[in-house]
Amino acid sequence: MERMIITHSPALQGEVSISGAKNSALPILAASLLGTEDIILSDVPPLEDVRIILQVIQSLGAQVSYEDETTVRINSKDLNHYNTPGELMGKMRASFLVMGPLLARIGKSITKLPGGCTIGSRPVDYHLKGFKALGCAITQDDSTIAAAAPVTGLSGNVVYLDFPSVGATQNIMMAATLAKGTSIIENAAREPEIVDLANFLNKIGADIKGAGTSNIKIRGVERLKGGNHSIIPDRIEAATFMIGSAITGGNVLIKNIIPSHLIPVTAKLQEVGCTIEEGEETLLVKGPRRLNPTSIKTMPYPGFPTDAQSQFMAMMTISKGESRVVETVFENRFMHVAELVRMGAVIDIIGKEAIIRGVSALQGAEVRATDLRAGAALVLAGLVAQGKTVLSELYHLDRGYYRLEEKIQALGGDIQRINF
Ligand code: UD1
Repeated sequence: MERMIITHSPALQGEVSISGAKNSALPILAASLLGTEDIILSDVPPLEDVRIILQVIQSLGAQVSYEDETTVRINSKDLNHYNTPGELMGKMRASFLVMGPLLARIGKSITKLPGGCTIGSRPVDYHLKGFKALGCAITQDDSTIAAAAPVTGLSGNVVYLDFPSVGATQNIMMAATLAKGTSIIENAAREPEIVDLANFLNKIGADIKGAGTSNIKIRGVERLKGGNHSIIPDRIEAATFMIGSAITGGNVLIKNIIPSHLIPVTAKLQEVGCTIEEGEETLLVKGPRRLNPTSIKTMPYPGFPTDAQSQFMAMMTISKGESRVVETVFENRFMHVAELVRMGAVIDIIGKEAIIRGVSALQGAEVRATDLRAGAALVLAGLVAQGKTVLSELYHLDRGYYRLEEKIQALGGDIQRINF
C-alpha cells in the first residue's frame, strides 16, 4: 500500500506553479457533451477525478484524445447513450454533472446516485428541482435516478435554489443552454468555477449572462458548437500552498493564480500574521515566526472556502491561542480533527464549531487521509510536526492534487511516497 512519509521540514522557500482547477475542469468536461464540434481544453489537471469524468463522457459516446499531458480534445457529435456507468458514477459526485448536458442534448438520463468524499449526505434535490422546472419527469429509487425531458425538449423557467449549490447551479445552467426560451437561476452559486463554466459555454455558442452573481440568465440556443478554452487556476491548491508557507514560517511565491479568487484566504492569513504581496498572477506569502489565533466560518463564495477549512485548521493547531472554525457548508467536514488530535492537536467539536487551542508543537503520527482536503491538512501538519508522520489512504489526495509531493519537495519539504 502507498503511504507518504512526511518529516519535520525547514520553512518552505521558493516558487510553486498552480495547476488548472479540478473543480472547473470537471463541470467543463461534462459540458463538452453539449458541443457538436471539436472542443480543445487546456490546463486540464491530470488527476484521478479528471480521468473518471473522461471515462464517463467516453462511455456516453464522446471521442476523447490527449494532445499533451494537460490538453484534451473532445468531440461529442455522436453522443448516443443516456445510461451512465454505475461503477464510475459511484466513485465521484461530480460525475452527476453529466445529467444536465444529457437532458439538453438527448432528453434522457439514467444515472446512479453520485459518490465522492464522505463529508456529508450531499443530496441532489436542488439539481432535480431545477430539471423539473425545465419540464423533466423524474423517477428515483434508492440508487438510481431517471430523468426524461418532454418530446418537445426542455423549456426555460425560473429556478430558485434554497442554497447556492455549486453543482446544482452548474447542472441547471448546462441543461438550460439548449432549452426553449429563457431560464433564470436565482440564488445561484457565485464561485469562480461557475464563471469559468459560463465563459466556456458562451465560447461554444451559449447565451449566459450574470455568472458570478446570484442571478444567472440563460437564453436557450439551437445548438452549441466547438471551441478552445483554458481552465482557470486551482484556488484551493493555491490556498493549500499559501497555508503551507504560513504554517512553516516560509517564503513562497505562488504562481499562475488569479489573486482575487483568493481574497478570503489572503485576508485570514494576514490576520494570523502573514505578509502577503500581490502581483498580477502571483501571491508572495511570508509566514510569521509564531501564528496568531483567529476564527473562520466557511461560506459559499466569496466567503471562506470549505475546501480550505481543514488545511487552515491544521495551521491553527500551532497558533499562540484559541481559534474557532465554524463549518456551515457541509455537515460532516471535521474528520481531519481526530487525525490532528493523534498528532497532539487540542481540538473540541461542538456541533458545527471546532475550538482549537494552539500547542507549541505537533508530534508525527500514523494518520489517514479521511478525505481529499483532510489529506492536504495532514501533509501540512506533518511538515511542522516533530519526527515523522506516516499518511495512508493517498487515493483521496490523488483525486485532487497534481504532483503534490514533488511541488512540496521543490520548496524544501521532506516528503516521500513509498510502497509498503
Ligand atoms: C462543489 C465542489 C466541492 C466544494 C463544494 C462547496 C466540485 C466538483 N466540488 O461540490 O469541492 O466543497 O462545491 O464549495 O466542484 N446540497 C443539497 N442539495 C443539493 C445540492 C447540494 O442539500 O441538491 C447541499 C450539500 O449537501 C452541501 C451544500 O449543499 O451541504 C453545498 O453543496 P454544493 O455547493 O452543491 O457542492 P458540490 O457542487 O457538491
